[in-house]
Amino acid sequence: MNPFVTNTYRGPAYFIDRKSETEILIDAVKNDRNLTLFSHRRLGKTMLLHHTFSLLDQNRYTTLFIDLFATRNLVHFAQKMSEVLFESKILHQSKFSKILGSLGASVSFDPITGNPQINFNITERSSVLKSIPQIFKLLSESKKKLIVAFDEFQEVSHYEEDFAEASIRTIMQEFPEIVFLFSGSKKSMMREIFTDANRPFFQSTQMMELHEIEQDIYENEIFLILARFQKKYDPLVIRQILNDTYCHTGFTQMVLSRMFSESEGEIDFPLYEQVWYDILANHKSMAREQEFLLPGLQWKTLTAIAREGYVRAPQSRAFTEKYHLSAPSSMSRAVKALLDKGLIIDCGEKGLRVYNVFIEKNLKSFPYD
Ligand SMILES: Nc1ncnc2c1ncn2[C@@H]1O[C@H](COP(=O)(O)OP(=O)(O)OP(=O)(O)O)[C@@H](O)[C@H]1O
Ligand SMILES: [Mg+2]
Repeated sequence: MNPFVTNTYRGPAYFIDRKSETEILIDAVKNDRNLTLFSHRRLGKTMLLHHTFSLLDQNRYTTLFIDLFATRNLVHFAQKMSEVLFESKILHQSKFSKILGSLGASVSFDPITGNPQINFNITERSSVLKSIPQIFKLLSESKKKLIVAFDEFQEVSHYEEDFAEASIRTIMQEFPEIVFLFSGSKKSMMREIFTDANRPFFQSTQMMELHEIEQDIYENEIFLILARFQKKYDPLVIRQILNDTYCHTGFTQMVLSRMFSESEGEIDFPLYEQVWYDILANHKSMAREQEFLLPGLQWKTLTAIAREGYVRAPQSRAFTEKYHLSAPSSMSRAVKALLDKGLIIDCGEKGLRVYNVFIEKNLKSFPYD
């Protein structure tokens, strides 16, 4: 078994750090505070929510995890919620089936996964929309405290209905006994939903940003896991992986996972070079493609940032002259476009860097004119 999980939550034994963040989430839950969790992609929001849920006393709390990925409207939203509810069996089946029936919804099962699929009749849109508060009403009557996490919540900002955010916000206000956790990517959640004074969710929840796990803590926990699995390792290799991936959890775990599965004996530098080379080779075409997808200045800026690692002042003369870039106004547009496309991320004081560390390392190896 590989202790470095890359997709599903497998329990606290494989979950690295996030102690203070878990505490903050549990504290919010216990004190009925709604909370918004945001970060750059692949830093560990989803895993942190699963971890927190796993620590809550099952006799006192009911937790619902609703992944809104790829939902495009409130009907999809109701559908996702109903599927999760159906599977969780927390509602009295007959009551719940009655609601679904009255909406003309039918339940079927995915032939491959066996997961329930609830199909709403989209032409009954208005009654489907009315069902959402009805479902929450039923849920709020439950004896146990209910915690609902909406993951990929930024999807709501693109819903077809203009009033989608307002309706969800109203539900949140109508059911103060339910704790709502919203989670999503920093870029869209922050700009579009929670920090705009004209939007319904403005200042309505406690905000929590997830950052990289601290390198010393990360390193020590990896050592402990490897020791537990009686795996020999060179500590300098682990340090190198953390440096090369900037402790960006999704990327770090992927390298660790490959290192673990491909190591016959010790985790050492020759193995690291092999694994690292393979991963970079797999990302090479993705890095090359950017040249054709991006306008010239964006491509040059992206490559220049990759070469620097972190860039604090992309408009500065020092940077633009070193890489033969453009005047501040064009630079500012190029940087904004790269941020919008998610190709670079803003790491605060450290500056900007290329989001995908494997693409970054490839870009760095390409010739620069
Ligand atoms: N604390 C942790 N310990 C071990 N592995 C982790 C931890 N946090 C995240 N991971 C791993 O890192 C990867 C990314 O985590 P996760 O999917 O939770 O990130 P995310 O922020 O939800 O990403 P996205 O924004 O793309 O939804 C996953 O493979 C996950 O298993
Ligand atoms: Mg996620």
